[in-house]
Amino acid sequence: MNIGIYFFSGTGNTAWMTARLVEALTARGDHVMAQSCETFDAEATPPVTGDMIGLTFPTHSSFAASVFRDFMARLPQATALPLFVITTAGYASGDTAWYAAQPLRARGYEPFLLANVLMPNNFFIPPMAFLPVTPEKRVPRRLEKAQQKISRLADLIHTQTRHIEGAGLFGRLLGLQQRWSMQTFEKRLFKPFFADETCIECGWCTRHCPVDNITTNENGVQFGERCILCMRCYSFYPVHAIQATQRTRNTPWYRRYTGPEGKRYTP
Ligand SMILES: Cc1cc2nc3c(=O)[nH]c(=O)nc-3n(C[C@H](O)[C@H](O)[C@H](O)COP(=O)(O)O)c2cc1C
Repeated sequence: MNIGIYFFSGTGNTAWMTARLVEALTARGDHVMAQSCETFDAEATPPVTGDMIGLTFPTHSSFAASVFRDFMARLPQATALPLFVITTAGYASGDTAWYAAQPLRARGYEPFLLANVLMPNNFFIPPMAFLPVTPEKRVPRRLEKAQQKISRLADLIHTQTRHIEGAGLFGRLLGLQQRWSMQTFEKRLFKPFFADETCIECGWCTRHCPVDNITTNENGVQFGERCILCMRCYSFYPVHAIQATQRTRNTPWYRRYTGPEGKRYTP
């Protein structure tokens, strides 16, 4: 089968999961191409060819990360094209995959597999997120379990077997609650990141922001209004000069995610 996968990854979890999925499907004889949505122009219509399409992205409060929502909205009309959607999440993704797939049904896509792969949590900046970033020593075990699940999902995708996660009552309620909280509180709680005096102005953050929200001027690094909270700059900026709040600044408890294999992710 020819399978095209589009993905977004802020800090590398979804990219890691997608790469493992490509390996597993290829080992089963499928021909798979995976591409980050960041390799497309922000206005471009992605080509959709092949026998099946897959979409993979991180759970952001039971939504797809917003840059990927925009990307999905640009997918062209299809005719009965089999679709699988796999989210990654740090704790629980609720009905995120199901919710993201709904508008695509009306445009000719046929979701047969909706699933989540549990990965390390990359997000802990109170008051917006309450649960800690997964400690480094627990990451290998999470990845091992994720690998096992990916292998099971690859079997289901290869045989195009229906498999729907998160669309039961519990998943739907969790999803509703998380989306409601995000829409209600995020705008009020979110304060843009800032670079502190340790910033070395190396340009890493401006080069790798997926929505071009970071610029530099004579006053140093500036954060605009478009942040999608992907956590890439915050997690990986070389000297940890990017801060969310004064309170969380350089406090070991508010640790930063170091990526699935301890590597800074760039698409
Ligand atoms: C803004 C934001 C919101 C998140 N919301 C959730 C959530 O609702 N449930 C959850 O389990 N994990 C949540 N996470 C954790 C990520 O979904 C998880 O760590 C994911 O694997 C990160 O993938 P990435 O490295 O590809 O960006 C959130 C992360 C961010 C940055």
